[in-house]
Amino acid sequence: MPNNILSGTSFQTVAEAYDRNADKYDDFIENNDNLARMRQRVYDFVAARVPAGGRILDLACGTGTDAVWFAQHGYSVHGVDISGEMLTRAEKKARELGLQDKLSFEQLSYTDLKNTKAGPFDLTFSNFGGLNCVSDLAMVAENVRPLLRQNTRVIWALMPPFCLWEAALVLRGRFKLAARRFSGESTVHKEGLVYPVYYYTPRQVAQAWGADFKLDSVEALSVMTPPATSKDFSVDYPRAFSMLRKLDDALAPRWPFKYWGDFSIVSLKHV
Ligand SMILES: C[S@@+](CC[C@H](N)C(=O)[O-])C[C@H]1O[C@@H](n2cnc3c(N)ncnc32)[C@H](O)[C@@H]1O
Repeated sequence: MPNNILSGTSFQTVAEAYDRNADKYDDFIENNDNLARMRQRVYDFVAARVPAGGRILDLACGTGTDAVWFAQHGYSVHGVDISGEMLTRAEKKARELGLQDKLSFEQLSYTDLKNTKAGPFDLTFSNFGGLNCVSDLAMVAENVRPLLRQNTRVIWALMPPFCLWEAALVLRGRFKLAARRFSGESTVHKEGLVYPVYYYTPRQVAQAWGADFKLDSVEALSVMTPPATSKDFSVDYPRAFSMLRKLDDALAPRWPFKYWGDFSIVSLKHV
C-alpha cells in the first residue's frame, strides 16, 4: 500500500500495532470460549439474513477468520485490511484450505475503497471492532456504497458507548475502565502504540448510511457474559460462565440489553 494514503493519520499507527500483534492474534481469538461463542452468534445472524452464494465485503478482515468461515459455508468474500501482517495470515489460510476461488484479500483502508476493483457485493460486513478505529462512519459508508448491489445489506459488529459488564466494574473500583466508553471516544494501548477508538450506537450507524438504509435488527454480543478481552473467565469460573451464557443468549436480542453488549451487531437493509 502506498504509505502516503495513511501517513500522518492514526490508521498508520493502527496498522503498525496490528502488524506487531499479528503473530499472537489468532492464538488469542482461538483460545477464548466466549469470543468463539460470540463469533458463532455473528455467523448465525448473517446466515439468517443473507443466502449462501452471496458475495461479502469484509471490512477490517484481520487474519481472515470470518472470511474463511463464510467461504466454507457457501459465500465468497473480499477482505480488506490496513495491516499487511494480518493479511499475510489470511492469505496463508486461504491457500492452505484451498479456498482461493472463494476468498480474496486487499491491503486497503476501508476509507479508500474507491481504489478497489472488487465488487459488487450483497453484504458489507465487519466484525469485532475494526470499524471502531474510524472517527467518521459516514466516510466508510460513502466509500462502500458504490460497491453494493440493489437489495444489499449492512451487518457490522462494533463497540457501543455503553457496555453493561464494563460499567459494572465501577463496583470493583475500576472507575477509568468502567467509564472509558461514555464520551464516545477513548484510546487503545497496543504493542507499545497508542491510537484513538470511537464508540457507536446502532442509530449512529444508521445515520452514517442515510435514508435509503433502514435499521432492521440489533443484537448485543456479550451483554451478560464478560467482554471478549476477559479470556480466562470461562476457564476460571465454568459454572458461572455456563449460567451467564444462557442468560446472555436470552437477553441479547431484547430491549434494552441489546444496546448494552461488549459489541452490537447492527443490521441495515437497503430500502
Ligand atoms: C480487532 S481486529 C478485528 C479483525 C477481524 N475483523 C476479526 O474479527 O478478527 C481490528 C482490525 O481492523 C483493522 N483496521 C483498523 N483500521 C482499519 C482501516 N482503516 N481499514 C482497514 N482495516 C482497518 C486492523 O488492521 C485489524 O486487523
